Amino acid sequence: MEHLVNSRVKEIEVSGIRRFYNMVSHLENVISLTIGQPDFFTPEHVKQAGIKAIEENFTSYTHNAGMLELRTAACKFVRQKYELNYNPDSEIIVSMGASEAIDIAFRTILTEGNEVILPGPVYPGYEPIIRMCGAVPVFVDISKNQFRFTLEMIKPYINEKTRCIVLPYPSNPTGVSLTEEELSDIADYLKDREIFILADEIYSELTYERPHKSIASYLKEKTIVINGLSKSHSMTGWRIGFVFAPENITKHMIKVHQYNVSCATSISQKAALEALTAGIDDAVPMRNEYRIRRDYVYDRLTAMNLDVIKPDGSFYFFVKIPDGFTVNSFDFALDLAKEGKVAVVPGNAFSEYGEGYFRLSFACSHETLKQGLDRIEAYIQRKYPHF
Ligand SMILES: Cc1ncc(COP(=O)(O)O)c(C=O)c1O
Repeated sequence: MEHLVNSRVKEIEVSGIRRFYNMVSHLENVISLTIGQPDFFTPEHVKQAGIKAIEENFTSYTHNAGMLELRTAACKFVRQKYELNYNPDSEIIVSMGASEAIDIAFRTILTEGNEVILPGPVYPGYEPIIRMCGAVPVFVDISKNQFRFTLEMIKPYINEKTRCIVLPYPSNPTGVSLTEEELSDIADYLKDREIFILADEIYSELTYERPHKSIASYLKEKTIVINGLSKSHSMTGWRIGFVFAPENITKHMIKVHQYNVSCATSISQKAALEALTAGIDDAVPMRNEYRIRRDYVYDRLTAMNLDVIKPDGSFYFFVKIPDGFTVNSFDFALDLAKEGKVAVVPGNAFSEYGEGYFRLSFACSHETLKQGLDRIEAYIQRKYPHF
């Protein structure tokens, strides 16, 4: 019966990250710098709120959009932190992680033949959904522009088919964020155009140089903001995301969400409420720790003469594989894992525009980072003594 499977689904490829894991997971004594989630535990008071929810039998469906109390807390959170104004009654949906938020946003706004402009390299969670909607992803190669997805880079790709532009900042995998000026340039240009912005701001609490700025603060009516607690509160397994959008968009997204999952998990919503009330600054100590690690990794990589941009957000470095390493990024990462005993993610897992790079995560302990970097250094010296 496989021939009857939806061809759009059949054509989706297994993610490059998964393919790579499958090839290296059996290797022994490998230090992994691949992790895409915080290495901290969920804060204790948040865990307790989840336990209490179970004990008090808060185990039924909630409102489709999520508990009003939680929506109110989330709207207050983004107002205080990012000066965004959303109505908890009609302009927010609590989703099953940012992943579901991305899914319902695209399925609400995209139809056959629409084009969606996105930066490359980019988080691999957008392209398959765009394709499943029958729309066409249009990648802009930002590797030649210090990974900055600026208006100048975007403009040549805009045409009458463009329905949406994806702005994922701070970025996974590059760690780059856009400045206020870069965001307001994009907002000004799009003001009078019929194009949505999907702003994936899941790393908004993990910024190291300046507080996060959302493009929705300039252009709310055209922007769908994706956020959630996976990174800020180290809650990846609780599956709590948020999608903020004007009422006339949210009222349609809620239908997709409702028939998808009914509502986010009730127990997780109680934990999320605690995170966004008593725990509004829970990300601060984690961010401070990440900043220390970032500076350490930056010093080490630059001392190895590797070409990197210091990330101003998220917890990733996107490192250029030095010229002279003739293999592609997948083979480089595979050999580094086998011979150098360190796992990193090959850059081509983030679209073809990530070819020639690898992603190194600093969501792991100082000791792990030190050992991993020592091994990378030794590997490069051993394999390429003249580098
Ligand atoms: C940029 C980006 N968006 C969305 C997600 C998915 O987040 P969630 O686990 O909340 O679904 C991730 C996860 O790594 C991510 O890096």
